[in-house]
Amino acid sequence: MKHLLKLADLSKDEIIDILNLADQLKYEKKHGISHKHLEGKTLGMIFQKASTRTRVSFEAGMYQLGGQALFLSSHELQIGRGEPIEDTARVLSRYLDGIMIRTFEQKEVETLAQYGSIPVINGLTDYCHPCQVLADLMTIREYKGRLEGLKMCYVGDGNNMANSLIVGGLKVGMAVSAACPADYAPAKDVLDYANTCKGFELVTSPAQAAQGADILVTDVWASMGQEGEAQIRRKAFHGYQINSELLKQANPGAMVLHCLPAHREEEISTEVFEAHAKEIFDEAENRLHAQKAVLVKLLGA
Ligand code: CP
Ligand code: NVA
Repeated sequence: MKHLLKLADLSKDEIIDILNLADQLKYEKKHGISHKHLEGKTLGMIFQKASTRTRVSFEAGMYQLGGQALFLSSHELQIGRGEPIEDTARVLSRYLDGIMIRTFEQKEVETLAQYGSIPVINGLTDYCHPCQVLADLMTIREYKGRLEGLKMCYVGDGNNMANSLIVGGLKVGMAVSAACPADYAPAKDVLDYANTCKGFELVTSPAQAAQGADILVTDVWASMGQEGEAQIRRKAFHGYQINSELLKQANPGAMVLHCLPAHREEEISTEVFEAHAKEIFDEAENRLHAQKAVLVKLLGA
């Protein structure tokens, strides 16, 4: 593994390896065991969109691993004034040991990796959110003790989270169902891949998708960059909510996950959010541990 651009690039074994290392790093952190695997290493973090979890978990993670992280807002970089990503990649490769980027187009992340000579990590694009889904898989395994054979159900927009959950879930042997409005389906290449896997189902009815699910996941109706569509989307996604009614379709003891930030009473009811807050905030915490594992794998000696 040279980069983390999207989960489709990883094998099942590579994903499980990351999760195993993440568990170990979490254990070491809880027990005060130092793990400075990245002493002297620097990660650059380019942000073209807002972030709380991604920024802080990568920055804290690099520090805990003995390295450092630089926050690079695209508004302050020359990228913001039109310097090509190809040139930025070649320059930053001379200074840094790795780059994390959060941006709009997946192509920018791929170009950064192509022109640079250091590992690139996708910290979210419009297309996918691999770091989040590694943390999600880690959290599911923590609670359920396994991944294989479980059913994960995604309800809502066929966005970056849907794309990564479908690919990641199927890769590790879960059944995955998704309920999305017809006009808001997941990416075509994701569906092409998913349809070659056992246990994938795309429907428009949340109740149908949630049947027998062990994990229910949702995400916002309007993602970053889609603020202008918020009103149209509020109509289109009416009923695409994880609430106590929907939970009745799922298996007893089903988990509820949300990558956050959450919009209560839109994609998730306040009641269900608060009832599953422990899982959701463990999921947020696991961003730290899962990303540290990715950093060690990519930037480590
Ligand atoms: N879930 C997630 O990526 O959160 P941030 O946007 O706060 O980084
Ligand atoms: N789909 C959301 C995820 C945020 C972590 C967005 O792209 O804004």
